Amino acid sequence: MTQTIPSRRRFLKSSSLAAAAVALRGSSLLSQGSSHVDAHIDINPAETIATISPEIYSHFIEQLGGVIYDGVWVGENSKIANVDGIRKDFIDTMKAVDVPVLRWPGGCFADSYDWHDGIGPRDKRPNRAGFWKQQEPNQYGLHEFMRTCRAIGCKPYLAANLRTQPARDFYQEIEYCNAPAGDIPSNSAAPAAPDTLAMQRAANGDRDPFNVDLWGVGNESWGCGGNLTPEEYAMEFRRFTAWTPTYGEAPLRFVAVGPNGDDVDWTRRLFKALYGNPERRHLWGLSVHYYTSGSPTKFAAGDALAFNDAEFYDLLTRGSLMDKVITDHWSAMRDAVPSELSKEQPSVKLVVDEWGAWYGKGTELAPEYNLSQQSTMRDALLTGITFDIFQRHADKVAVAAVAQSINCIHSLMLAQGDKFCVTPTFHVFQMYLPHRGAQAVRADFTAPSIPNPMGETASQVGGNSYIGQLPPVRTLAGLSGSASIKGKTLILTVVNPHLTQPMTTEIAVRGASIASARGTVLAEKDVHAHNDFAHPDVVKPRSVASLSPSGGKLTHSFPPASVTALEVTLS
Ligand code: AHR
Repeated sequence: MTQTIPSRRRFLKSSSLAAAAVALRGSSLLSQGSSHVDAHIDINPAETIATISPEIYSHFIEQLGGVIYDGVWVGENSKIANVDGIRKDFIDTMKAVDVPVLRWPGGCFADSYDWHDGIGPRDKRPNRAGFWKQQEPNQYGLHEFMRTCRAIGCKPYLAANLRTQPARDFYQEIEYCNAPAGDIPSNSAAPAAPDTLAMQRAANGDRDPFNVDLWGVGNESWGCGGNLTPEEYAMEFRRFTAWTPTYGEAPLRFVAVGPNGDDVDWTRRLFKALYGNPERRHLWGLSVHYYTSGSPTKFAAGDALAFNDAEFYDLLTRGSLMDKVITDHWSAMRDAVPSELSKEQPSVKLVVDEWGAWYGKGTELAPEYNLSQQSTMRDALLTGITFDIFQRHADKVAVAAVAQSINCIHSLMLAQGDKFCVTPTFHVFQMYLPHRGAQAVRADFTAPSIPNPMGETASQVGGNSYIGQLPPVRTLAGLSGSASIKGKTLILTVVNPHLTQPMTTEIAVRGASIASARGTVLAEKDVHAHNDFAHPDVVKPRSVASLSPSGGKLTHSFPPASVTALEVTLS
């Protein structure tokens, strides 16, 4: 191990409200009883942030490699256990993490996809050239996707094709999905009559509307979605959303294409262009895509399994930039809006609908499983760090979707034929479940920071960006996490990224006493640990032993390279 143990004099405090680090004196890291502790967590329930949107735990699946075909869709006649053609293990695992929202069909695939190709009798559907150098057999289409959402019990999030289809296909897709069955009042002198697209939907197997309320208006329009400028995209967004059919009271939630990672120029110019025109009421969210490459200098590079200590710390450091990405774009939206309209801006939320660690080739299940990769404890730690960032920004992030659920970049599941296993990332999703719908509150973490051994390298602005660089990031928070409150229960999640050092931490809650606590921990001696088909249970969580509060506080030792979820009862 080549880890540099940080000097005892260099301590950093990371706030739950700001990523700003404040140097503290080492002598402050003693518990009241003066026995030695390495870190403090100070929780203030009075400083509320916002309710944690359950939708930050959402998912993304795309017609890509082995995600849909084999991963999700095995077909009704498959020997693999399935529910109406959908892999049963996929459904069960998605249910086990209580997926709130599932995004489909892309990604880059969406902007060359014609939704009409995926409806009607399966044996009549066309086989077409699709994105990702693939043939698309269209056996999994709109109805199969809606069936998947129903089986999981989640809401659908559709990405519309803005690059190769006109606005008419977009509003007719909404009509096909959402028009009610039966006679619809005409609101004119014409008699009530059934909607033709709703009748087509019924003929294709679904009489009841899908009621899709979340719509992505294009995908990565700065790249695969059309190579547009922010101004060109703003014009397209307005054209696509100026009018769409509405059914029911609640307005549809339209998500505009946002930046590639930390490209704030996109967001500033997009908001200037959108708010330069009074017609903007349809904008509900701004999509953000931030991937952490396995290499600081090259996108989608580095090895998922073979990495050294320096690369481990560097990936987690660059993954922690998600905090900066969120605050930068939040400010960029606000700054770009004329001051007389600035009160409207906070209603536009961030939708981080693609995130995860993206490595180079080498660990894919097979060549045709394009972009599939293994996931280790390193990815589990990145998952915890990312969720904690989202929760610390519960006032800004309304939806987030991991890319992607199965057989892809930052997956929870790997499947090939009848073989199946979950990754360490799955366990972190499960451990963080109690945070959903709870009130995020301020928690200050005070711990020695870890120098990033590769911290002299500037990283790219965005996951897959070719424009701009972010300044080098030289330190990684020695302990980070987030806290939320539900009634008398405090939920605290903590990541200790040290490869070798446990962090004995004093946890205190202002204005309350800790009466009892229980918890779960995911920790492995070797951060390369991962599950595979032959060894599906190498990485799995265990209960935290001996949590004994004393004097209203709790002192706990967080093991090296671990993710911990505590449920604390307050009195
Ligand atoms: O998730 C894989 C790809 O990454 C998506 O298709 C695209 O939106 C992004 O570039």
